[in-house]
Amino acid sequence: MPSPATANGPIGVFDSGIGGLSVLAALKRELPQEQFVYIGDAGHAPYGERDTAHVLQRSQRLADYLCTRHQVKALVLACNTATAAAVARLRARYPSLPIVGIEPALKPAAAQSTSGVVAVMATRSTLASDKFQTLLSAQPPSVRFILQACDGLAAAIEQADLPAIESLSQRYLQALRQHPDGGKHIDTVVLGCTHYALISDTLGSLWGPQVSLIEAGQPVARRTRQVLQAADLLQAVGQGTAHMPPSSGTQCLSTGDPALLDQALRDWQVGEPNLRASALYLP
Ligand code: DGL
Repeated sequence: MPSPATANGPIGVFDSGIGGLSVLAALKRELPQEQFVYIGDAGHAPYGERDTAHVLQRSQRLADYLCTRHQVKALVLACNTATAAAVARLRARYPSLPIVGIEPALKPAAAQSTSGVVAVMATRSTLASDKFQTLLSAQPPSVRFILQACDGLAAAIEQADLPAIESLSQRYLQALRQHPDGGKHIDTVVLGCTHYALISDTLGSLWGPQVSLIEAGQPVARRTRQVLQAADLLQAVGQGTAHMPPSSGTQCLSTGDPALLDQALRDWQVGEPNLRASALYLP
């Protein structure tokens, strides 16, 4: 069992790889005084095309490691696929630990869409999950959601494989636009995988200026602030990174090739220019 959390502890954040950096960046903007331990589970990714048992087992492994080795005071699942598969089980396993998950932003998309046709790009596993189906059934019937499982796209982003990113993005956009259920009227696209938020520029230029892309990094960061506040675990301003050297507020670990996480940290600024990734062996 973990020792009782204190406001001085770090916040644990994990994803199957680099995708969660889009959430980490939002967390660091929202909570600049906090410390973070980020794990990209690239050695066991992609999650989105694996079975639920695998994602559940990895999520528990990462949560246990973050609790026992880093005494995290809260956990952020910066991965839609892991949230769908594991957030309920993690909450049961750690009843006193604040745990924040991420899910595709269907509600904001429904509120924003004027055409009433919304595309959802996510992993196969997220779209097939009970959690997602429940979320979908809670949306207003006046809005039509067209779902697209984007096999291979997270892996291409993870590998920084630009030709594959471009061609898969094109392929899925075309499939959505040509969807018989009103695809040509799509005016809002939900990025339901944290990896896709990292390529929002590419996706934005393919979809064009009439279409809005929605991701959930910022709402997750705000929610994290709320749950920390409610548990009286917010780091007091001036107590955290303000007194530390520039790169000590965040630790980044990869169970795969740390060079890929390193490259991603350079490409996708998370607010600490000198941040470097280290390898983590966690079979
Ligand atoms: N980034 C993860 C998500 O938000 C999934 C990527 C993967 O398939 O591993 O769902």
